[in-house]
Amino acid sequence: MSRALTRVVSWGHELLAEKIKKGQLVIDLTAGNGCDTLMLHRLVGETGQVVAFDIQSAALESTRQHLLEHGAVVRMWQAGAGKLPIASGVDLIQAGHESLADYLSQAPQGVVANLGYFPGGDPQIITRPDSTLKALRQACHLLAPGGRLAVVIYLGHPGGAEEGRLVDGFFAGLPAADFQVLQLKVSNRPEAPFLLVAEKRV
Ligand SMILES: C[S@@+](CC[C@H](N)C(=O)[O-])C[C@H]1O[C@@H](n2cnc3c(N)ncnc32)[C@H](O)[C@@H]1O
Repeated sequence: MSRALTRVVSWGHELLAEKIKKGQLVIDLTAGNGCDTLMLHRLVGETGQVVAFDIQSAALESTRQHLLEHGAVVRMWQAGAGKLPIASGVDLIQAGHESLADYLSQAPQGVVANLGYFPGGDPQIITRPDSTLKALRQACHLLAPGGRLAVVIYLGHPGGAEEGRLVDGFFAGLPAADFQVLQLKVSNRPEAPFLLVAEKRV
């Protein structure tokens, strides 16, 4: 079945897949229902490690179920757990992604973030520019050379447009000597979600 041309989420997955291999470490900054976490788990395989963050226990529980149905080994952590062991499987952390660096002791090869609110959950609990930008700064710093960071921005909810403007500005400000940056937008639907991808130069 062919995919809709304008489905930026799946373009993001494809651009990550180009750079991620079995056995590597990858990060999901916003687990939600776990679709991105599962995609990352498939890319790194049983020997790889996925670390996924969310502030909502319902989101992490949904992600856990999703992953277990697909045979993943899943470990649950609370905020303040400290550096996670390097181990194959999926680590789900109930903590803000702005503290990303506190949990990692290795450079990730890929990082994904789908901003906005938990689908089916409380639409008031959204990603916020301050913490989003802190997480993106850390992700860019930690990313392995040749690794990619893919972020999907939604504009339809209150606060979405402001977050979009700031995240767009963050990517635009990444030094070209260190990062290649791509933006993918639905040209004739300005309100549609858009994708930003940064690749760290080797
Ligand atoms: C659009 S949803 C993510 C969708 C998800 N990637 C999926 O595949 O279903 C955004 C998620 O970000 C979470 N979130 C909001 N602020 C956060 C923060 N500071 N740190 C981590 N997660 C956060 C929300 O709880 C929500 O579940």
